[in-house]
Amino acid sequence: MSEQISRLTNATVSNPAEYGPLRERGPVLRTVIDGVELPVWFISDYEECKEALNDPRFIRDATKLPGREGPGLAEQMLGGAGLPEEYFAYFGNLSLSDGEEHTRLRNAVARAFTARRVNALRPSLERTASDLYAALSAKKEADLVAELGYPFATAAICELMDIEEADRPQLQSWVLEMLSYDPELFVPAVRGIVEYYKDLIARRRAEPTDDLVSELLKPGGIHHDLLAEDAIISIFMLLTSTGIAPPAHFLGQALLTLLNHPEELAELRRRPELLAKRAVPELLRYTTSAPTGGPLHAAEDFEFHGCPVKQGDAVVPSLIGSNHDPKRFTEPQRLDLARDLGPGVGHLAFGSGPHYCTGASLAQLETEVVIDTFLLKNRTVELAVEPDQLPYVDIPGKGAALGSLPVRF
Ligand code: HEM
Repeated sequence: MSEQISRLTNATVSNPAEYGPLRERGPVLRTVIDGVELPVWFISDYEECKEALNDPRFIRDATKLPGREGPGLAEQMLGGAGLPEEYFAYFGNLSLSDGEEHTRLRNAVARAFTARRVNALRPSLERTASDLYAALSAKKEADLVAELGYPFATAAICELMDIEEADRPQLQSWVLEMLSYDPELFVPAVRGIVEYYKDLIARRRAEPTDDLVSELLKPGGIHHDLLAEDAIISIFMLLTSTGIAPPAHFLGQALLTLLNHPEELAELRRRPELLAKRAVPELLRYTTSAPTGGPLHAAEDFEFHGCPVKQGDAVVPSLIGSNHDPKRFTEPQRLDLARDLGPGVGHLAFGSGPHYCTGASLAQLETEVVIDTFLLKNRTVELAVEPDQLPYVDIPGKGAALGSLPVRF
């Protein structure tokens, strides 16, 4: 353990090669991460991260702590982006709630992700991927983040939510504008999404179908009551805001990783049966495209792996550090598409514990379909720039995401 406060840049947090010297100072460090500016306990190793993510003494909602009442981080961000208060109700934030409140919201969201619903998407995702491949390869050049990752992830989450095809490009633009937190774009985008969902709910109330909105409108929702309209809108907000950017960023990273490892890609082409069970989990581990989990807060004073954690202290679990921890993975810096990650999920790319990613099975399916279509069935994609020229976008406190992936066909 180290109590000496050091600074970490976003680039360091996102780069597993930088963790060697950090680990020499212990699995838990007192540090300040650029863009966050408050000291945090930064956890870099697998077992310690997993333990923290599953320890109820670490909570998400800091406003429940004595002296920290008042607007939480989410409200501050929403207010900072100029959003009128009447819209705050639509941001019932799953990732920032704990205990019963979290379970109630999470159970409602889980109704969208039954194995039946997710598995039923495969044929339509395969069609979407083939159509995108045909359109992009005909152009000979494309950016696989903007022209494949975003529209494909949008199509997948919208298909799950039964949102009509014609409405998807507008919804994708609103979501990306909202995630920019640019006050000029944020408020009109939130208004656009909320009005769109209100209209969709009104149409399904008048004429139910077998889609997700109609199902959420049936008795049997939260506490066996009808789900209120505001609750349905906030679930849909959550599904669209988390269902587009994270999978789009991961798809870009996964394709880039395979293009950068031609021998491993050739092996996968020889043994495509590795794709679902071994290659996709290994790509999730290797890239860990969401490098850190959301901040945790100590609900009480206690010692965590030799560190004197005080009530209210923030803790950042490094998922990418954990997934490259040599105590847990042999040669973690090596991409091994046949790697057996062991029992259970075997990596922390989707987090762990009560806040484990609800969209994990959908993200897995999306990745299988995209790799199969763009790199296995078709074999013409190649990088159009040197890897060191690729742009990365800083996400303060969350590392860096691939901004674009220019390729040739
Ligand atoms: C490869 C793509 C994805 C990655 C790497 C990813 C990663 C993660 C991680 C690391 C967490 C936990 C964060 C924490 O502990 O603070 C999380 C939570 C979450 N993810 Fe994903 N995710 C992906 C795709 C998706 C998709 C497609 C959806 C669909 C809507 C989704 C919805 C969510 C939601 C709702 C949560 C919050 C769960 C909770 O707090 O209980 N994710 N995701």
